[in-house]
Amino acid sequence: MKNIKAIIFDAYGTLFDVNSAAEKCKDKIGDKWEGFANYWRTTQLEYTWLRSLMKRHKDFWKVTEDSLDKSMKTYEIDSSMRNELLDLYKILSPFKEVPEVLKSLKEKDFKLAILSNGTPALLNELVKSNDLENIFNDIFSIEEVGVYKPDSKVYDIPIKQYQIQTNEVAFLSANTWDVSGGGNYGYNSIWVNRSNNTFDNLDYVPKHQIKDLGKLLDIL
Ligand code: LAC
Repeated sequence: MKNIKAIIFDAYGTLFDVNSAAEKCKDKIGDKWEGFANYWRTTQLEYTWLRSLMKRHKDFWKVTEDSLDKSMKTYEIDSSMRNELLDLYKILSPFKEVPEVLKSLKEKDFKLAILSNGTPALLNELVKSNDLENIFNDIFSIEEVGVYKPDSKVYDIPIKQYQIQTNEVAFLSANTWDVSGGGNYGYNSIWVNRSNNTFDNLDYVPKHQIKDLGKLLDIL
C-alpha cells in the first residue's frame, strides 16, 4: 500500500446506498421493502454480467429499469411506484460517513476518482445531487469500453488515463466480486464490509477490510 497515486471508488453500494430508493418508499411498499430492494440489486447485477457474457450491452439505466420491472412483478409491487423508484434511484443517498471522508481525502495528494457501471449522466447527477461534484478528478464510466465489471477493460480505464501502474491504485468497493475483479487485475483492493459479510473465493484476498470508509484514512 505504498506509492498509492490514485484512490478509486466503486459507486453503487460503496459510496451510495442502493437500498435507499426502496427505503424511502417503505411506507408504501411495507415490510417487504428490503427483500425487494435486495432482489432488485441482485437482478440488476446479474443482468450486467449476463449482458457482458452475451455481448448484448445495454446501458446501466436500462438494466436498472429492466431489473426493476422483474423485481416489481416478483414482489407484487403496484406499477404506480415505478417512476417514483426510478426517480429516487437517480439521487441515491450516500452512506453517512462518505461526504466527510471524501472531503478530507481531497486535501491529500491523491487522484480521486469513481469507476462505475453507471452511465456518465447517471453518475454526474448522483454526485451533483449529493453536493460532491468538486471532489473527484474523474468519474470513469464503463460506457467508455461498452462492457461491465469485472471485465479487465474496465479496470484498465484509469490506468490508461493516469499512466500509472496497477499497484499504484487503491480501489475501494463494498461489492466482494468487484474487490476480486480489481484485485485480480492488479489493484490494491480494499473491501468495505459494512454488514459483516463473508468474502468470495475468487483467487484474491483483499489488501484490507474496513467497516466503513472512515477507516481508509488510517490505512493511507
Ligand atoms: C458500480 C457497481 C458495481 O458502481 O456497483 O460499478
